[in-house]
Amino acid sequence: MTFKRRTHTCGELSETNIGEKIVLNGWVDTRRDLGGVIFIDLRDRYGITQVIFEPTYNEEMHKEGSKLRSEYVVAIEGTVRKRPADTENPNLPTGMIDVMVDKVILLNEAKTPPFPIKKSGDVNEDIRLEYRYLDLRGEKMQKNMLMRSKMYNSVRNFFNDQEFLEIETPYLMKSTPEGARDFLVPSRIHRGKFYALPQSPQTYKQLLMVSGFDKYFQIVKCFRDEDLRADRQPEFTQIDIEMSFVDQEDIFSLVEGLMVKLFKETKNQELETPIKRISFHEAMEKYGSDKPDLRFNMELKTLNHVFENTEFKVFKDAIDNNGIITGLLAEGCGDFTRNQLDVLTNYVKQLGAGGLIWMRVKEDGLEAPVAKFMSDEEKEGIIDSLSAKPGDLIFIISGPKMKSLSYMGSLRLEMARRLDLIKPDAKPSLLWVTNFPLLEWDEDTKRFYAMHHPFTSPNLDELDKLDNNPGDINARAYDLVLDGNEIAGGSIRIHDAELQSKMFDTLGISKEEADRKFGFLMNAFKYGAPPHGGIAFGFDRLAMLFAGEDSIRDVIAFPKTSSASSLMDDSPSNVDEDQLRELHIKVK
Ligand code: AMO
Repeated sequence: MTFKRRTHTCGELSETNIGEKIVLNGWVDTRRDLGGVIFIDLRDRYGITQVIFEPTYNEEMHKEGSKLRSEYVVAIEGTVRKRPADTENPNLPTGMIDVMVDKVILLNEAKTPPFPIKKSGDVNEDIRLEYRYLDLRGEKMQKNMLMRSKMYNSVRNFFNDQEFLEIETPYLMKSTPEGARDFLVPSRIHRGKFYALPQSPQTYKQLLMVSGFDKYFQIVKCFRDEDLRADRQPEFTQIDIEMSFVDQEDIFSLVEGLMVKLFKETKNQELETPIKRISFHEAMEKYGSDKPDLRFNMELKTLNHVFENTEFKVFKDAIDNNGIITGLLAEGCGDFTRNQLDVLTNYVKQLGAGGLIWMRVKEDGLEAPVAKFMSDEEKEGIIDSLSAKPGDLIFIISGPKMKSLSYMGSLRLEMARRLDLIKPDAKPSLLWVTNFPLLEWDEDTKRFYAMHHPFTSPNLDELDKLDNNPGDINARAYDLVLDGNEIAGGSIRIHDAELQSKMFDTLGISKEEADRKFGFLMNAFKYGAPPHGGIAFGFDRLAMLFAGEDSIRDVIAFPKTSSASSLMDDSPSNVDEDQLRELHIKVK
């Protein structure tokens, strides 16, 4: 069979081509037989063209046409014709013409696909992932991959214009855990030793600053062995950025420029800058989240001042233990049934909250099971603080500060979902969250962990707290949030070996351990490290939001399932004993 090369793609022909002899290559999308005339939609990634096998036009080819089935690969030679009146399809770029078939060459047959390619987006995800190559043939994934590819281009053009260098960093590196678990790669040559796959190129990009590459970026794969969710994959892509001789403002303005370009070129949307900023503490108190979704209003209100002298034990305990009493107003929800309220109570309990207090606002005050424990003054205080009106519903959660705020933040999102507060045409909500705490205390291991990573600089005017009150220090760290998703995170770094070693000390990392794990970086800092800082975007998350998808799997060509496996090639999988032996590994 001779292959006939296409003269046009399936998305290209229009009225200007009428009368031309052309060749198309593609897949049979659909085939309809209408009273002896066979209509085929021929598909490639550029579009669809209707081709027609008519017995009166070419009897032999009509016979050939009747043998074609969905997803057969064909070359069509034919003549472009104006579609007969009333059969035009203005919704299709090629909808004004069709192609009368002069010759069809079957390039390959196809088994009946396990799902219709056209509707692959509606099919069970496990089947889509098992036959990913077919799923990718469908309209939704083709569109998403095209958009993603354009995004790479915009990003690269942006950084080129700003004189950034794209420098690749190793995938086989030293294990220097950043927060998640490392994926390890056993060394064949060095018995018993392991490389780690990078959780991010963090240490390398800092070393590149020491080398003088003052503007670095890379679109790079990162690997983290962590529990997966809709917005997390074990391997994912970052737009990784680092700059020397900069402060936060330089990073913000660079990133805002990138976002303006991406919104324009991907979504054709004008983005307003500067992007709003909010401190971590304010974000937590107002929205119960360090990645607040501001596409809808609804703010948490701290009610501690109302209950300063309370007799109500639950609130008194919260106040005595430095905790918080946080309230949320659900306007017009006073008619929620007991059953609905039980469901919401269970919702926050499942997150870990001790319980959920709810109160209906009536003309004559508050109606609630706990109302009897509160003074009139306290009830007034709640109503005032939340600006509540009759017909509204009030929620209150009390307990340890950060946990209670985040339970209420989750309830805020749940209420937005139930009340349909986020409209599909809502303006994108971009937000910088700044001034993160430097450290997080972990009750289980009784030690501090770096909230961002151990290379993040503390606020320089708070350094004196490192010795006696480290939990109180804020970091020069920031996240960028889009519609309630953390799409980027970064910080100004420590560039001073002494401060870095003090930081390790605070983190309970011994000098010996610090030397073993990070000695190469600390050493490098002794040879003239410039002040530097950077940020990294979760590229998949950004693509997911731009594509309007709910899962990053829908913008990744070959993703893993939520249990970290690939259904298509069945990885991870067992390996041969010989391979293990070479790697000096025995599976227990
Ligand atoms: P961070 O750990 O915040 O920072 O990661 C940066 C961004 O990467 C995205 N992200 C993920 N996306 C998909 N799957 C995952 N498992 C996953 N984990 C993170 C998020 C996040 O905001 N080296 C630092 C950056 C820096 O300081 O410059 C870092 O990696 O969108």
